[in-house]
Amino acid sequence: GAAVEVDISAIKPGEKLTVEWRGKPVWVVRRTPEQVAALKKLDPQLADPNSERKAYPTPDYAKNTHRSIKEEFFVAVGICSHLGCSPSDKFQTGAQPSLPNDWAGGFLCPCHGSTFDMAGRVFKNVPAPDNLEVPPHMYLSDAKLLIG
Ligand code: FES
Repeated sequence: GAAVEVDISAIKPGEKLTVEWRGKPVWVVRRTPEQVAALKKLDPQLADPNSERKAYPTPDYAKNTHRSIKEEFFVAVGICSHLGCSPSDKFQTGAQPSLPNDWAGGFLCPCHGSTFDMAGRVFKNVPAPDNLEVPPHMYLSDAKLLIG
């Protein structure tokens, strides 16, 4: 499929834009500094904090805590690694239904309750076996992202 060019200049901190690439939803999330800072503390709670598993190979440029090229922007395929539902945004922090009291923001799959952090890293002891997929991507400029 063709690569998709996305204008990311209008995405505000704490917002997500969804675009379609190869028939899949791809999320571009602009994280707040607080959301980026929270990622570093979550490793012990995660199944694969360093993205070493191979089911959805993470590109080398996203094998880091924030799983992205730029800390601020997270690009991922919005499909749960369990049975393919699309996780919902749970960017608000703190206690919420179905989420731990110390929730630091992320995604919740409505089908079987898998949870992912703001870098799409899957938590331990949930049905989803892997982190969310990071599609191949690059920046053409500060405002333009190329997916694919
Ligand atoms: Fe997401 Fe089952 S499809 S938890």
